Amino acid sequence: MDMRTKQPFPADHHDYINTNEGWVDRRIFWEEEIYQQELEKIFARSWHFIAHDSQIPNSGDFVTTYMGEDGVIGVRGKLDKVSVFLNSCPHRGNKVCFADSGNAKRFTCNYHGWAFGMDGALMGIHNEHIYEGAIDKSQWGLRQARVENYKGLVFANFDSEAPDLETWLGDYRWYLDMLLDNEEGGIEFLPGTIKSYINANWKFGVENFIGDSLHAMWNHDSGAKAMMAGQAFPPAEQAGSYHGSANGHGWEFATDSVADIAILGQPEVIEYYESIRPKMRERLGRLRAKIFGSLASAAMFPNISFLPGLGTFRVWLPRGPRKTELRIWTIVNKNMPDHIKQMVNKGTMLTFSPGGTLEMDDGENWEGNTQTNKGLLTRQGKLHYGCGSSSRIDHPEIPGIVHQGQYNDANQLAFYQRWADLMNADSWDDVPQRHEPRFAGKPTR
Ligand code: FES
Ligand code: FE
Repeated sequence: MDMRTKQPFPADHHDYINTNEGWVDRRIFWEEEIYQQELEKIFARSWHFIAHDSQIPNSGDFVTTYMGEDGVIGVRGKLDKVSVFLNSCPHRGNKVCFADSGNAKRFTCNYHGWAFGMDGALMGIHNEHIYEGAIDKSQWGLRQARVENYKGLVFANFDSEAPDLETWLGDYRWYLDMLLDNEEGGIEFLPGTIKSYINANWKFGVENFIGDSLHAMWNHDSGAKAMMAGQAFPPAEQAGSYHGSANGHGWEFATDSVADIAILGQPEVIEYYESIRPKMRERLGRLRAKIFGSLASAAMFPNISFLPGLGTFRVWLPRGPRKTELRIWTIVNKNMPDHIKQMVNKGTMLTFSPGGTLEMDDGENWEGNTQTNKGLLTRQGKLHYGCGSSSRIDHPEIPGIVHQGQYNDANQLAFYQRWADLMNADSWDDVPQRHEPRFAGKPTR
């Protein structure tokens, strides 16, 4: 093949990845054509994080965000019902809401004054008599998404054929409950959103959080030593640590340390979690109570990440194939004393905010990962994802696809497998089930 010409795109998206040989085609991080397919096959069909209940507690509270490149409004209406609809006026297309969040009784478009209610319905039109009855308002509301809630997290999906949220999460609920349900009262999001932009493909942030502990000991070594009085990140024991995934959502974790929370450098936060650990055992079972707070990192398909225990929660909103808008919040247990909440917040700001020590290290690398592919010959190559790929095990208690060891590429490959499965599927019947689901919502001991 003449290497100067553009290589043809494979017909089957599974050909962009190879889970046996452990590689991924670089073009999925660069090409506009592939990105447009992602918007159609992944973002238009996935369940997207919109807000946590604590961010929109009252009637009229709203946030604006994106599902793919589609701007949306999520609003709590009357009777506590949350609606999510497109933020684009069906008259000439302008946004009907320009704020990031707030409280509103209606959304009135700047251009000609069409006004929409909390459910997105068209309520009124400025000087409606001029239309001389030639408009049926019931037909010109804002396009609605399906909305579901999992333990306080509000999700939305525009695909009427997509599986419900519980099925979409599947066995990942076993993992997610450690974050959302480790104590009575659940979690809350602290006020405020931090936004930043990275000139990187959206998938690099997700795959980092889903399983790349390997980078921490090298990339964050200097920052960790500065924050932890000269101490380096302690390497996790491979035997007691795992990559677990289900439906493309993943969580890498150890079972034998409190390292993650320790990064905050605040003993009071560790003491808090230790004080609730006996109750956590009753809620979640012995194993999960041990996992929560150990060295861990997690992501949900397609574009949500968090660090369990440490308190950062974020979405990677794609802005084209080579740019990502990152939105970050601090999450805490609702029942934590206020001064502990503020300690967690300070810790996440010092580590995982755009000015945080660890976030800066990562962002620069993800930009490099993406922008080198501008080179025609460079992007004809593959990227290596073969670390520890033979480590899959059957674990009696941990559901999903489980690989032993903290340092491997298993969760990353599971994420790209799900990516290929959805990119390749014309209908939900074509999406393969990659493991036998078994979580029934009960504690495991
Ligand atoms: Fe919204 Fe005309 S564009 S009222
Ligand atoms: Fe990092």
